Amino acid sequence: MNPRPSIAFAKFAAPQTAANRKGVVFVLSADDGGLSGAARVYDPGNTLERAFPVAEFTGKFAGVVEILAPEGTSLDRLVAIGAGKASGLDETAWLKLGGTIAASLRKATDVAVVLDLVGAVTGGKDAANLAAGILLRSYSFDKYKTRKDKDDARADPKKPIKVTIHTADPAGAKKAFAEVEAVVDGVLLARDLVNEPANILGPVEFAAQAKELEALGVKVEILAEKEMKKLGMGSLLGVAQGSPRGARMAVMQWNGGKPKDSPVAFVGKGVTFDTGGNSMKPASGMEDMKGDMGGAAAVTGLMHALAARKAKANVVGIIGLVENAVDGHAQRPGDIVTSMSGQTIEVLNTDAEGRLVLADALWYCNDRFQPKFMVNLATLTGAIMVALGLHYAGLFSNNDELAERLTAAGQATQERLWRMPLGAEYDKLIDSKNADMKNIGGRYGGAIIAAQFLQRFVKDTPWAHLDIAGTAMGSPSSEINQSWGSGFGVRLLDRLVRDHYES
Ligand code: BES
Ligand code: MN
Ligand code: ZN
Repeated sequence: MNPRPSIAFAKFAAPQTAANRKGVVFVLSADDGGLSGAARVYDPGNTLERAFPVAEFTGKFAGVVEILAPEGTSLDRLVAIGAGKASGLDETAWLKLGGTIAASLRKATDVAVVLDLVGAVTGGKDAANLAAGILLRSYSFDKYKTRKDKDDARADPKKPIKVTIHTADPAGAKKAFAEVEAVVDGVLLARDLVNEPANILGPVEFAAQAKELEALGVKVEILAEKEMKKLGMGSLLGVAQGSPRGARMAVMQWNGGKPKDSPVAFVGKGVTFDTGGNSMKPASGMEDMKGDMGGAAAVTGLMHALAARKAKANVVGIIGLVENAVDGHAQRPGDIVTSMSGQTIEVLNTDAEGRLVLADALWYCNDRFQPKFMVNLATLTGAIMVALGLHYAGLFSNNDELAERLTAAGQATQERLWRMPLGAEYDKLIDSKNADMKNIGGRYGGAIIAAQFLQRFVKDTPWAHLDIAGTAMGSPSSEINQSWGSGFGVRLLDRLVRDHYES
């Protein structure tokens, strides 16, 4: 059990203070660069640098070498982290270095990081990103673990690890960190929501979580069944009708931009559990469907991030919250529902439910807000995992500029997107004999067919659909994430807003 580390920034410590400090000190070393002057202060006996060749440590990015109880100090450990090529370390590089440090924290209680690198000028922003990497990597979902780790020798494992980052510009770092921490908190919120089991987090409970964003100045409305019925959301409500837990839609508005500026909008699939309904899923692996609200989690985390850092933009976040369960009221294959758009849908497979939820959420969003664009996120298809694996999310869009901006934001944050095709040939695969469309197509191109379905609900508004089935949960752990729920999408979309839509 490790609570979130506490982060502070300070000037480089004077040699005497440094040498007497108990705890663990991390220093950075670039490719064959050795230690900087500020770092050497902690290594008076030169023990660490002498260990480099023995440990075959060259300063390679994210390499680690550590020594215990270094000579001439009272430190417990002294750890060198490789920074690779000193110049041109970007945002994600600093996050990853922070993650590498967090991975070596172990049971330390008092930690100093010396942010000084031969051959590079490191600024406040770098220190802030390093700190963010520490926080992201340190996250673990352990709230339901009641027993203390046997090997944990710390007096109080609930006490946070104290991390002080020593830098040339602590004031600048502190200022930058306030912004970066807002985004980290958004990511961690999204991870918490995805990891939470479905008995605890259903549509009603998720809506209550969204409502809590009001504390940050977000305007939050919660629509219940009655209002959704009045609005004609038969597509979304059809999915919910097999569960006793009710359906909700949360409408979140952050108005940090110019009053008359039309908003940008993000829409999330929030199926708090997906049994498949009457077209039931196999038992094996079904537990993963507690994460079928990863899109809604990302939108909620994003709204948190934007509000907490007071983004100068008008942003709408809409999430459709349902449980796809199966009782005697559940919809059947062959049922025909009428969506808010007026278009009718033949539900040939009740497990293709995410698109049914998004159909009404997208239509409502467009109709009410006339946004500059809509980006929806959804753990929509297994087919996207077949196509792209677990490292890229699928990107579908009717607008090249939006697609390019999203792709660039994905590169910058390493929440990567790969654009997939749309087209009339695919669209006609969902024409139905009995209704305006059906909710499944043929055997091939399942992720594209799902996207075509969504496109029928966005008119000409610039729109992008991110299929995050492979990246929101169960994706490979990384330098900055060890948890099942990744929070994918929060950093990506925060970046999109920051780069293009803030005044
Ligand atoms: N939530 C699933 C997609 C999914 C699968 C997400 C695995 C994450 C991991 C979605 O609702 C679904 O069941 N899709 C079906 C669609 C099919 C019935 C056309 C699928 O992908 O098999
Ligand atoms: Mn499904
Ligand atoms: Zn689903």
